[in-house]
Amino acid sequence: MVTARAEPGAGAIDGRVERLLGQMTLAEKIGQLTLVHVEPGELPGDLRAAVRAGKAGAVLDVVDVATVNELQRIAAHDSRLGIPLLVGRDVIHGFKTVLPIPLGQAAAWNPDLVQQGARMAALEAAASGVNWTFAPMIDIARDPRWGRIAESFGEDSHLAAVLGAAAIRGFQGDGLSRPGAIAACAKHFVGYGASEGGRDYGYVGIPEVDLRNVHMPPFRAAADAGVATFMAAFSDVNGVPASANPFLLRTVLRGEWKFPGFVVSDWDSIVDMVVHGLVANDEEAALAALSAGVDMEMVSTTYRDHLPGLLAAKRIDPRLLDNAVRNVLRVKLQLGLFERTATDPAAYPGVASAANLALARELATQSLVLLQNRNGVLPLAPQRLHSLAVIGPLADDAYEQLGTWAPDGDPALSRTPLQAIRETVGARVTVRHVRAMATTRTVTTAGFTEAVAAASGADASVLFLGEESILSGESHSRASIDLPGNQLDLVRAVKRAGKPVIVVILAGRPLTIEPILAHADAVLYAWHPGVMAGPAIADILFGVESPSGKLPVTFPRVVGQVPLYYAHRSTGKPASQASFLHIDDIAARTPQAGLKNASQYLDAGYAPLYEFGYGLSYTSFTYADIAVAPTRARVGVPISVRAVVRNVGQVAGDEVAQLYVRDLVGSVTRPVRELKGFQRIHLEPGESREVAFQLSADDLAFYGRDLTRAVEPGSFHVWIGGSSSADLRADFELTAD
Ligand code: NOJ
Repeated sequence: MVTARAEPGAGAIDGRVERLLGQMTLAEKIGQLTLVHVEPGELPGDLRAAVRAGKAGAVLDVVDVATVNELQRIAAHDSRLGIPLLVGRDVIHGFKTVLPIPLGQAAAWNPDLVQQGARMAALEAAASGVNWTFAPMIDIARDPRWGRIAESFGEDSHLAAVLGAAAIRGFQGDGLSRPGAIAACAKHFVGYGASEGGRDYGYVGIPEVDLRNVHMPPFRAAADAGVATFMAAFSDVNGVPASANPFLLRTVLRGEWKFPGFVVSDWDSIVDMVVHGLVANDEEAALAALSAGVDMEMVSTTYRDHLPGLLAAKRIDPRLLDNAVRNVLRVKLQLGLFERTATDPAAYPGVASAANLALARELATQSLVLLQNRNGVLPLAPQRLHSLAVIGPLADDAYEQLGTWAPDGDPALSRTPLQAIRETVGARVTVRHVRAMATTRTVTTAGFTEAVAAASGADASVLFLGEESILSGESHSRASIDLPGNQLDLVRAVKRAGKPVIVVILAGRPLTIEPILAHADAVLYAWHPGVMAGPAIADILFGVESPSGKLPVTFPRVVGQVPLYYAHRSTGKPASQASFLHIDDIAARTPQAGLKNASQYLDAGYAPLYEFGYGLSYTSFTYADIAVAPTRARVGVPISVRAVVRNVGQVAGDEVAQLYVRDLVGSVTRPVRELKGFQRIHLEPGESREVAFQLSADDLAFYGRDLTRAVEPGSFHVWIGGSSSADLRADFELTAD
């Protein structure tokens, strides 16, 4: 677990907060709780006036450094108390240098790289005057229909907790007051990823035990990592929207976790309370939100409009307001904003520098997951190729490869797959490019003839398919997660040319790609890889690098299996190979009792297409000699688990060794497996290495039937391997005394 970092001079900061608070008018206090959206390119005169009057304490979406500096100058010099502004921006996966989408970053299973990526993005953003990002998003996402799965670290609590904490360390650097540190924001607290039906903003019904065991751990880790701010989710959580939910924001976040930063609403999520039907009007919404513990209001203005009246009517305790203001001022002081109001871009390393592009390339390379590689068709050997067909709507699209959150990215920086392939193979190999479809959603076959001709004349074809960036992200959910448009037919048509077919998929979510597997010799899942998509993909296609990404989310066969995730409960009648009879194999008039009763679908079985943690390499790894010590111990004694990983193939490669645990009997039923640790290791051909993990009491504790967190004595299974289907197992037992 990441431990809290005490901010330097906490006492002095509190003293300054109290001195400021003592001088503030009601309007100035409410101003500190007001986050104003500014349209790009526009700086309304009334915003200047509001900042001068101390009525706007924070802005979002201003990234022009001259404008930021002007606003900060007004705040620091022309306002009565000289309180600088928070300048917020969605710096989600890079800033100018666009990195892979968070789901892709998660596929790299590399916290160090995630931290470096966030550090790089923080420095680029800080050079524009941004001092606060609305990231990381650490919602648990188990429904690929949900468009925001792209912005998540996937389905697993442990992976999201580790990567979220890494991102926070990257954004906030060695201390909030250091130059280049920007405040991070753990969002969206909590449960947003479980939106009903994968429809964005949908209702969230999660029993408290699952909220605590599954959805909250990444947020707890964020608080422990010292994240400066939290964002309340849009979601209606169990009937009380998160932005007015005192159980979430007061009991858990402040009471149990002792979170000292501030909580911001989501965009209009306070006025949304009226739409939810929780309160009758905006005034009641303001009352509900502040009472629940939302310190700052994003975009809507119920605090500004209604807190004065609510205070006058004594419906709100003024101490509530003061505490919210304290929380905001404390973060501003921790950031050292009073000491550095002007931003000099020259004081920062250059944006989109060679070093930043190299980092973007490394992260993209490690995020690529090889799903299928029949007959070792990959890697391609440029020296043995004469011609290559590069086909598809995403082969040469500098914009789409950037992904869902790239508002500050510049497609001109992008290096596309087509460009990189041409550079890699050189003039000796003929590369024929056919876009074939205008977009991934094209339903005509007009471009197919040319694509098939190119494929017929080439040694192999590489197809770049998937989804445009607009098809995932906020409010971009899909009910079908098939490859859109005519892409499946394009793969079929190209395969008929009789040459090897390699499919690279760029997408913001897992897609149901089973139908292409029969026609594609190799499938590489690339997510939206960012500016350096091209070189990263080319390095894998041509074997400069061996693929090492692993799935951070389960891939279903068909959308009807969703939600489908590895850490599910056993059920009383778990499915297995023996229980399953496919719909096509059921004889007519089979009696109702003629099939085995098991938790499965007659038409889709029970297994995913690809399990969590899965990913191929150009080499092979074996796992052996698992050992647990001690095998029997009292609760609280750390358990060490080790195994030997060997590279038994012909090339060097990275492997992500994963540790899973099952707690066999619990006061509430426990998942069939839970990830508790992972290590990315590099092995040369023939090399072996022992991977060792420690399981602490904290790793094995969970919220049980009485909703307290404890380790329950009993038997455990533990596996180490290359995916959540690892079969190398050992057992241990924990006793009460
Ligand atoms: C709404 C999104 O839900 C949130 O994640 C984002 O940070 C804000 N808009 C600000 O753009």
